Amino acid sequence: TNRTFTMIKPDAFGAGNTGAILEMIESAGFRIIALKATRLSPELAGQFYQVHKERPFYADLCQYMSSGPIVAAILEKSNAVADFRSLIGATNPENAAEGTIRKRFATSLEANAIHGSDSDENALIESNFFFSAFDQIG
Ligand code: GTP
Ligand code: MG
Repeated sequence: TNRTFTMIKPDAFGAGNTGAILEMIESAGFRIIALKATRLSPELAGQFYQVHKERPFYADLCQYMSSGPIVAAILEKSNAVADFRSLIGATNPENAAEGTIRKRFATSLEANAIHGSDSDENALIESNFFFSAFDQIG
């Protein structure tokens, strides 16, 4: 599809970087289809990151993702999933390219400012985790 899902993570939201990140996203040609500020309980973070439940960092990740408010959004653009992963940069900000969101705003491998779906299938699953059809503009 031409849609992806993103979260501005607690570190970036807490530092007041939401506006600057949304500006980078829109400047890169993504259109906002749904948007909200919310928070994840540890249980909801655990559900969202089910795919990582066997990874050694799963408990830390769920704790971190429930440590403060986040912003969730659905974004539209041609080639959305791949282009958005390019815009956010490498998972570890030490490896993130210049001009990427993580290069500019991430503070560590865990507190890396932003999430981007890794496939069309997961973009749909993650979008439906946060948003009803009613929340999404056409
Ligand atoms: P997302 O867009 O957030 O899914 O990041 P990603 O796809 O670049 O990375 P991945 O899905 O592999 O990991 C999910 C998240 O877990 C990362 O964005 C980090 O916040 C965190 N993470 C990944 N690897 C580690 C690690 O080795 N240690 C810790 N503490 N956190 C990690
Ligand atoms: Mg991922």
